[in-house]
Amino acid sequence: MTSRRQFIKGASVLTSAVTLPSLLELTRPEEESVDFSIARTDDELFALVRKQLLIPENRIYLNTGSLGPSPISVIDTVYKAMRQLEMNPVGENWGDLGKAMEAVRDTVASFINAKKEEILLTRNTTEGLSIISSCLELKKGDEILTTTQEHGGALTGMAFAEKTKGVIIKKIELPSPTDDIGDIIGRIQANITRKTKLIILSHVNTATGLVMPFAEVAKVTKPKGIVLVADGAQSAGLIKVDVKNMGVDAYATSGHKWLMGPKETGFLYLNKEFAPKIINVFSHSGFAAYSASSGTRNVATIIGLGAAIDLHQQIGVEKIYQRCLEIRNYCRTELEKIGGLKITSPTPDHLSCGILCFTLEKAVNREVFNKLREQGIIIKLLPGGNDLRISCHMFVSKGDVDRFIEAFRRLI
Ligand SMILES: Cc1ncc(COP(=O)(O)O)c(C=O)c1O
Repeated sequence: MTSRRQFIKGASVLTSAVTLPSLLELTRPEEESVDFSIARTDDELFALVRKQLLIPENRIYLNTGSLGPSPISVIDTVYKAMRQLEMNPVGENWGDLGKAMEAVRDTVASFINAKKEEILLTRNTTEGLSIISSCLELKKGDEILTTTQEHGGALTGMAFAEKTKGVIIKKIELPSPTDDIGDIIGRIQANITRKTKLIILSHVNTATGLVMPFAEVAKVTKPKGIVLVADGAQSAGLIKVDVKNMGVDAYATSGHKWLMGPKETGFLYLNKEFAPKIINVFSHSGFAAYSASSGTRNVATIIGLGAAIDLHQQIGVEKIYQRCLEIRNYCRTELEKIGGLKITSPTPDHLSCGILCFTLEKAVNREVFNKLREQGIIIKLLPGGNDLRISCHMFVSKGDVDRFIEAFRRLI
C-alpha cells in the first residue's frame, strides 16, 4: 500500500513524470499541501483531510450526499493526468494513461470485494442502474419491487422499463424512522409475488440515511431467484461496501459523492454469474475502461477516481465510517435538545451512518435552508415534504456541527 506521504506527492499512477511546472503549484499556498502521516490522533487526521479541501474555512459543508468535495491531491492527480494527456494525446490515451485508467478497475474491485472482470466504469449511479433496468430481460406484467423512498436516479430506469416493457413497479412504504430489520424483511416478503423479478433498494437511503441490511434481504431473494440490485450512490466512501457479503447481483455508485472523487465518475458491479443477463451496448465489446463500444473516455477523471478510492483505503473505511457516525450522533443529540423537529433517520447504529434527516414541525424547510446558506452553512433541502438532510463526512468537525446547531437554533 502507498504511504500517505507518497499519495500526497500525488499521481503515483502516472508512470512518466510531468516536468513542466504545474499551474496549481505556482498559485497554491504552500501550506495546502498536506502530509497525512504527521497526524497523531484521528482528530488531527480528519482536520488534515479538511485542509485538503478547497471549501473556504468559514463555509460548513454538510451536503456531501448531493456532491462531495474533492481533496487537492485528487484534483492534482486529475490535473496532472490532463496535462500529461495533452502532451501526447493518442500516445497517452492508449499508452501509460490508458493503462493507469484500466488499473482503476482493479482498485474498484478490491475496494468492494469484487473481481476486476465484474467492474464496469460508468459516469454515475444513474447510468449503472439504468443499464440494469433497461437491459434485464423483463416481460409485460413482471414486477420490480422497490420502496417509496428511492432517488430519481434509480426510478428513471424503472420508469423506462415500465414504459417500454409493461413491467409493474411496486413500492414498499418504509416507516421513518425504520429501526427494525425484521420489519424491513417482513415488508419485502409481504410484497413479493410470483411475478417479482427484480428488487432495487438503496444501500444507504437518500431521504433517511437508513443502511439497508442487504445480507438479510438476499436471504429472501436468493432462494426465489429474484435479481437483487443495490443503489449505492450514498454508500461508497461512507460505509464499507462488500458486494459478496451483501449478496447482490449488481451494485451501482458514483465517485462524486462520499468518495470525494472527480465529477461524472462511477462504477457498476455486475456479479459474474448475473452479468450475461445484462445485454448492453455500452459493454458489448467487453468491460475494459476503453473498448470499441465504450468509445473514448476521460482518462484523467477516471484516474482521479482511483486516487479518491486510494485515499479512502489509506485512511481506512472502518475509521471513516466510525467517524461519520460519531459526528452524526453528536449532531442528532444536539438537534434533539432544540426540539421542533422529528428525526426520520434510524435510531440504532447498525442501521445508521453519517447521514441525518429530520422533518421540521413548524418552521419551513426552504426558509431554514436559505437562511443557513446565507450564513455559509450548506445542507440539503429534501424534496416533497418539510425535511432537511445533514451529511457528516469525515472532514466535518464537532465545531462545524456546533456552528450549524447554533445557527439552526436561532432560525427555528
Ligand atoms: C440514492 C441515490 N441514487 C441515485 C442518485 C443519483 O446519483 P448520480 O446523479 O450520481 O447518478 C442519488 C443522488 O443523490 C442518490 O442519492
